[in-house]
Amino acid sequence: MRVPLSGLPGRVTIYEVGPRDGLQNEKAVVPVDVKSEFVTRLADAGLRTIETTSFVHPKWVPQLADAEQLLDILPRSPQLRYPVLVPNKRGLERALSNGVTEIAVFGSATETFARRNLNRTVDESLAMFAPVVDRARAEGLWVRAYVSMVCGDPWEGDVPISQVVSVASRLMDMGCSQLSLGDTIGVGTPGHVTALIGALGEAGIGTERLAVHFHDTYGQALANTLAALQAGVTVVDASAGGLGGCPYAESATGNLPTEDLVWMLHGLGVDTGVDLAKLAETSRWMAGHLGRPSPSRVVQALSPESE
Ligand code: HMG
Ligand code: MG
Repeated sequence: MRVPLSGLPGRVTIYEVGPRDGLQNEKAVVPVDVKSEFVTRLADAGLRTIETTSFVHPKWVPQLADAEQLLDILPRSPQLRYPVLVPNKRGLERALSNGVTEIAVFGSATETFARRNLNRTVDESLAMFAPVVDRARAEGLWVRAYVSMVCGDPWEGDVPISQVVSVASRLMDMGCSQLSLGDTIGVGTPGHVTALIGALGEAGIGTERLAVHFHDTYGQALANTLAALQAGVTVVDASAGGLGGCPYAESATGNLPTEDLVWMLHGLGVDTGVDLAKLAETSRWMAGHLGRPSPSRVVQALSPESE
């Protein structure tokens, strides 16, 4: 039943990260034709922005070493956006040669994660991104910036809001169009999210340029999403079936499951364009390939065995 809550947007854009953030964390490498079918089924369920893969070093993330092959076989359409992660100039070259039109650079609010994820300090990683963003914009690409560890870090503990705002401002000053706030290890709670979004607004980064990227490690992802929506955010990252984590942050478990997000949004009368039944069926199909059930409560509740 749809029961609206005042102060929420009428429509939310779901930025689907399952094929990238989800599959990058699987022990087994999923065959490229299964990945392609996954993306195609997500699009058929109504998702319009699907982060498909990463042009990172294949030794760092072997699960996504088939980025070129995947983009080669994916069906393209003007309605579908397929952003990819790009850390450096080499990654951008690879993306450009494969017809990519949307990229995401991925920075860290903390030094330890920057070193572990990018083999760079925060300053060095921002210096690595700057020419990538410049060139990408000159080529007419849309550029998103992630900032990870926005609430806490497994090695450094609590992350001060001022530290997040500083890295975020430096990324947005490069000319990125959107900033995705990554609670990579899922430790944030709603008041923290509201305060962070407020501080970014005071620094000139308004909610029209923000997205939120929650991991559900402590079961807070939906509550945090609602806080972000109430603060004015309208782009939410989620991963079909709750796939995901981060290979370089062991305490990062699954992302916010897209099905759980859609259930909440539709219940609130917020439009997403997603067909929930088709989406849950896709996640069950993918769970079959991965050999374990989806952690999404909504996928479980909608599965034929539980009806
Ligand atoms: P490095 O070892 O410092 O690389 O890694 P380098 O610049 O010294 O280059 C070494 C060699 O790698 C060179 O080859 C380069 O050409 C090659 P050689 O000359 O020795 O033959 N190389 C590449 N090859 C293919 N593609 C490339 C590339 N770059 C260099 N793009 C690097 C630095 C950034 C490459 C590495 O650290 C890396 O790939 N890191 C990516 C790790 C990753 O993908 N982590 C998961 C992302 S998830 C995340 O960050 C969180 C997020 O989900 C949000 C959230 O939850 O918070 C986004
Ligand atoms: Mg993530």
